[in-house]
Amino acid sequence: MASTPTILVFDSGLGGLTVLREIVAARPDAHYVYVADDAFFPYGHHSEEAIVARVVPLIGELIASHAPDLVVIACNTASTLVMSHLRDAYTVPFVGTVPAIKPACAQSKTRRVSVLGTRGTVKREYTKALIRDFALGCEVTLVGSPELASLAESALSGNVVSDRDVAAELAPCFVGDGDDATARTDTIVLACTHYPLLLDRFVRLAPWPVDWIDPAPAIARRVSDLLGPPLGKEHGGEADHAGAAMLFTSGRPHTLSRALMPFFGGRVPA
Ligand code: DGL
Repeated sequence: MASTPTILVFDSGLGGLTVLREIVAARPDAHYVYVADDAFFPYGHHSEEAIVARVVPLIGELIASHAPDLVVIACNTASTLVMSHLRDAYTVPFVGTVPAIKPACAQSKTRRVSVLGTRGTVKREYTKALIRDFALGCEVTLVGSPELASLAESALSGNVVSDRDVAAELAPCFVGDGDDATARTDTIVLACTHYPLLLDRFVRLAPWPVDWIDPAPAIARRVSDLLGPPLGKEHGGEADHAGAAMLFTSGRPHTLSRALMPFFGGRVPA
């Protein structure tokens, strides 16, 4: 890669920030453009046709305006549908975010795994194929949450979100005999990038302890591998903190910039 690489990270809203922060930690040398398609949020409430028709041309416009070296679709609801369309339409490399069913089933000791995603993600043929291919005999419970992405978005925007509302969305993930640690869910896949924003609450509200699987670190490793080793300053690259920008498709102003700095590795996004 000739100079500081530009990575475009895309989600329906603020959830993709949980993927961004891992990528920024792995690649502080890159320049970041984060795009939240908040004008169409939440994706989990749209039909498959509507998401493809929205995302494919929008990514084309973003590639034309920002010339990224790599695009990360930091949204399970979109990635489980649009990756092949994007790769057919554009030559830039893409990395998607799909439910981490394979590692979850590989590590579950009780053989009970739940997949917590949007209603859209858990209905997808893509997700069902992951279960067929990688469940390894585990009982996999699909939990389509209608409201958690909106609750996470609201909490990050500084609004009060009640424990009761969060707990109600989590409850169906906990399957089996709560009193028998060998016969109950022990692993939950965070299959929506918004959910790690609420992870502290999930841990506190869980009826029993489980492992929560967030694929963001694996996605960051994949991005770093595709980019190749960072250029040192002596080769004309910037060692770190190459800047960042954040865009909302609604055009809403950046009132959150300072609160979002940790996700950008300390940068204030323009
Ligand atoms: N962050 C998105 C995901 O990973 C979904 C939120 C939405 O419904 O827009 O699935």
